[in-house]
Amino acid sequence: MKQYTLDWTRYEELARQAVAEGVVLVKNEQKTLPLQPETKLAVFGRSQFHYYKSGTGSGGMVNVGHVTTPLEALRERPDIHINESLYATYEEWVKENPFDQGVGWAGEPWSQQEMDVTDELVEQAAQKSDVALIMIGRTAGEDRDNTADPGSYLLTDIEHAMIERVTKRFDKTVVVLNVGNIIDMKWANEPSAILYAWQGGMEGGKGLVDVLVGDVSPSGKLTDTIARSIEDYPSTKNFGHADKGIYQEDIYVGYRYFETFAKDDVLYPFGFGLSYTTFNTKVKRTAEVDGVLTVEVEVTNTGECDGKEVVQLYVEKPQGKLGNPLRSLVAFEKTLLLEPGEQQTLSFNVHMTDFASYDDSGVTGHESSFVLEAGTYRLYAGTDVRSATFALEVEQQEQRVLETLSENMAPVLPFERMKPIQGERGLEVGYESTPLRAVDVETRYLEERPETRPFTDDQGIKLSDVYHGKASLDAFLDQLTDEDLAAIVRGQGMNSPRVTPGTAAAFGGVSDRLNELGIPAACCADGPSGIRMDIGTKAFALPNGTLLASTFNVDLVEDLFEMTGLEMRKNRVDTLLGPGMNIHRNPLNGRNFEYFSEDPHVTGKMAVAQLNGMHRVGVTGTLKHFSANNQEAHRHDIDSVVSERALREIYLKGFEMAVKEGRASSIMTTYGAVNGIWTAGLYDQNTRILRDEWGFDGIVMTDWWAKVNFREDESANRQNTAAMVRSQNDLYMVVDRPDLNSFEDNTMASLEEGVVTRGELLRSARNICAFILKSPAMERLLGIHDGSVEVLGFEDETNQQDAFELDYQHLENGEHVDLSGIDTSTGNTHVFAISVDQTGTYDITLTARSNAGELAQMPVTLFANNIPGATFTFNGTDGEWVTQTKQVFFLNQHNYLQLYFALSGLEVKDVSFKLADEFSMKNG
Ligand code: BGC
Repeated sequence: MKQYTLDWTRYEELARQAVAEGVVLVKNEQKTLPLQPETKLAVFGRSQFHYYKSGTGSGGMVNVGHVTTPLEALRERPDIHINESLYATYEEWVKENPFDQGVGWAGEPWSQQEMDVTDELVEQAAQKSDVALIMIGRTAGEDRDNTADPGSYLLTDIEHAMIERVTKRFDKTVVVLNVGNIIDMKWANEPSAILYAWQGGMEGGKGLVDVLVGDVSPSGKLTDTIARSIEDYPSTKNFGHADKGIYQEDIYVGYRYFETFAKDDVLYPFGFGLSYTTFNTKVKRTAEVDGVLTVEVEVTNTGECDGKEVVQLYVEKPQGKLGNPLRSLVAFEKTLLLEPGEQQTLSFNVHMTDFASYDDSGVTGHESSFVLEAGTYRLYAGTDVRSATFALEVEQQEQRVLETLSENMAPVLPFERMKPIQGERGLEVGYESTPLRAVDVETRYLEERPETRPFTDDQGIKLSDVYHGKASLDAFLDQLTDEDLAAIVRGQGMNSPRVTPGTAAAFGGVSDRLNELGIPAACCADGPSGIRMDIGTKAFALPNGTLLASTFNVDLVEDLFEMTGLEMRKNRVDTLLGPGMNIHRNPLNGRNFEYFSEDPHVTGKMAVAQLNGMHRVGVTGTLKHFSANNQEAHRHDIDSVVSERALREIYLKGFEMAVKEGRASSIMTTYGAVNGIWTAGLYDQNTRILRDEWGFDGIVMTDWWAKVNFREDESANRQNTAAMVRSQNDLYMVVDRPDLNSFEDNTMASLEEGVVTRGELLRSARNICAFILKSPAMERLLGIHDGSVEVLGFEDETNQQDAFELDYQHLENGEHVDLSGIDTSTGNTHVFAISVDQTGTYDITLTARSNAGELAQMPVTLFANNIPGATFTFNGTDGEWVTQTKQVFFLNQHNYLQLYFALSGLEVKDVSFKLADEFSMKNG
């Protein structure tokens, strides 16, 4: 039997290293950093008490034992002396102004109220300290974007006043940004040092302090352009709309726009980040042989401490007929740790074919093709997009067509898209009409429908026979009834009792009948920043996507995700719902923290690294969200109106790399639409591009309760599994009872009407079973691996290894759960699981008593699936039983509940659940 060992200490070390390599130092004057030994440090900002380990929503809900804050990590450094009286002032203030965690899903505030720092307080601190450190914190996340307002993208007046007052008095002030995503930096000239610490997961504080004190010289680089103002991003004016989001900027996203048209608007360029040492980068050799361009760059550490540098290679393509950005990243590499004086030569081989542009209009004479237009192609090498210098040029004498494809996903709504025009002083923003859809997607689809094979009835073939090569997968699937096929395309969740408790979904063996055929239930869990298990099982909280990408260190990310892969094995998770790989089209997107970059090459490489790491131990990740999921506002209904060229060169590119280079086998579509068709039903995307062009043979799943339609002239809804299956989106996520069609989808009715065929259902069932055949779920079923992983160096206080079979107590409406005798002492959490017949808002009544005085306050918070639902605050009751009722929303039938006792003194009797207002996602 296979043996797996997860070394938790190594996991921590790798994450800590990723943080230290991912934080980006954007300013460091007067040698403010690193902090020198015996520094007397005054720490300002309430964020010193609460470090944001991640953003919010599904990608942030990892339960951790402990998150080390930067302050805790600083306190472990004996030669850094924290100003204790300033600390005490903050401590007092935070007691009176406690951290506001908000209530409910997407209900967290994006920032916390800050203490108003007086000149007097700064003066007192300055008399005892030589360096000031100001912590600024921000979060944001799923279902709610950032806004261009104080407290979100902008500093609040109080925060800005704090920076002003502190920098006026201190010569050396470091501002540390604990943020998910870049923020406005109009204030950047004030402090002497600024560092983007991002959201570093549970090791975030330690990795950051490694950099602050100089144990590690920073080597992180910005994966986004920081412009002077949010208005400078060309997508801002088309961001956040309710129904149509027009991608007018086309391929000119991030630095592609700024370097081509608006260099002066840039405060910090893409790829930029400082080090404590200095490097000399010199192009040593260039060559071109048969379309392969070689660039050798010699990097020398010319400074005084060890460090790593990132060399980036950009191409400038000729403008040609298509028009092109002046810079596009084609390769990057990070050096090893170089000692002062040490040199390393990085060798790049890029292919001319990597420089192709997609012609979606036919202007080159080759519509729907990747074309290398004639002209001069120049490569630039350097350590950020702006300072990269000329390395070599190649003359393409004649236009070359590299790949002839066909029109897919093209827009129907006429709009003007950006295209450079030659102005007097260089390229200027011009516009042209975007080519529109010319094919009839419906007719084309009908011509390409798969064959239907007949039902053979039970031939006694089990999935294990297919595994052992005794029967073909098709012969196995032909035994499935239409009902079986309709069930297998439904995922079960959330909190499916068939898989690891608290995870997002089970798929495959989601009914007893499918289990009898030998199909196990596979498990997927959020993702991407660690494993989310809503029963409170502790997991490793990883640094966020932006931080990982900022390392530009693919080997490190790969090693880290091998650990995550082992942790998935330990928790019986077959696929993580990540990497998140949407493009940072605009800094206001709430989920940018989960994603990597404004650049598709960085995005693709990071996804490949994560997949490679997980694949080392036989688990995988689910690429999401496919595609163009670039805002959270109105995410179920937004239609991204975007050219086919921008899709192929920007928004699909990273996914293509992850499929081709990273051998991805699982993908999640989005909630919204691209050019009128909701992506869960987007045949052009899910079949023609993904599978026919890229060769993907894995599973495609919807996002949770996504809408689907067939055509752009039709509204989308959550029951249209026929449109989903036709597009070869294999799984509808998620329903409570796949065997009973509890979500009332239209599969069976559509089958009868011939709208969807048995052949199409078989095709998806094949994708699902082929995935499962290669999964750990199958290995466990066959006894190839028992699911156990030896974990070294981690105390699992939740005893999670025993928790795979947890029971849900079924409650009729109004019934209660007995709580007598449970431990209600301070800080204790009581966990239990219930299943109800109906989802919706419940009146939850807690019965409790206490002998404490009448002014005593004993708050009990009920978390439903790890989201704070309601707080019941009891006072002393003279020993009498009293009840309190609060309303809590249950989105799922299966619910993990936690009662958190903030102060002891309470005795609880029971808690009852009565439906107040019915709600179902299927109608929502
Ligand atoms: C998110 C997905 C996530 C899924 C399951 C959705 O709300 O958009 O990214 O994986 O929920 O939690």
